[in-house]
Amino acid sequence: MPKIITVAARKGGVGKTTLAYELAYLLDAPLVDLEFDDGSATRIWGYRHEARTRAPLLDAIERGTVPRVLKGHRKPDLVPCHPDFQLNQPDADSMATILETWAEQWGRDFVVVDTHGGGSPSGDGAIAAASHVIVPVPLRTKDLNATESMVREMPDFPLILAPSMVPRVPPAAEIQRIRNIIKDTPVTVARPIPYVRGIETRKKRIALTSEQPIPKAYTAFADALHALADSLKGENL
Ligand SMILES: Nc1ncnc2c1ncn2[C@@H]1O[C@H](COP(=O)(O)OP(=O)(O)OP(=O)(O)O)[C@@H](O)[C@H]1O
Ligand SMILES: [Mg+2]
Repeated sequence: MPKIITVAARKGGVGKTTLAYELAYLLDAPLVDLEFDDGSATRIWGYRHEARTRAPLLDAIERGTVPRVLKGHRKPDLVPCHPDFQLNQPDADSMATILETWAEQWGRDFVVVDTHGGGSPSGDGAIAAASHVIVPVPLRTKDLNATESMVREMPDFPLILAPSMVPRVPPAAEIQRIRNIIKDTPVTVARPIPYVRGIETRKKRIALTSEQPIPKAYTAFADALHALADSLKGENL
């Protein structure tokens, strides 16, 4: 069975899309974009719904078909999102079933799903369908609080907390807090994903981990993403 990897969090702006984009590329997985706002993976990828008459995600859901995956060159293959998805998204159970069907039909080892920042019914469905839910967690009090509630409310979900935008010297107290959050739960913690200066103004559409040679400023970030992808492939989480 293909593995569905959903990237989700209780808070916005935590690094979900950045992580989902790179991870889908490294896993050679279709990226299903369920984020209907700007700043989505669809935009980074270079897909402009304004220039299209069809909306692959909406059309497939409406017709009960399997959407064609757009081929990415040095970036992930993509099922792009559309602004109308916000008001036309399925409920959680339907979305979960839809994703499972698509994953089976595509026949790839992995499918990666990016979700909307504020939470959404479709995002809840993607969480329900997931083999693993990756939760980026910046080591800031509010993000840690939100993550703590998420772990408390979903103790039986296959969550992987991924410390996000972590400074070169990780703050010891916050790292300890993550350990406390997962104590006595099956939730795991991924290797910290470093903060990368300049990533927010990067204009390139290609995955950062596809750059050859990889700029020195990106190597620690790329190493962490490779480690996460490898652990998902090897299941040695
Ligand atoms: N490792 C990182 N280092 C530095 N900046 C980062 C890192 N990861 C993401 N960012 C930046 O932080 C901002 C938010 O990242 P991103 O869009 O991936 O988060 P998100 O959780 O998907 O947000 P939203 O909730 O709006 O969907 C972006 O400007 C992005 O470039
Ligand atoms: Mg996002």
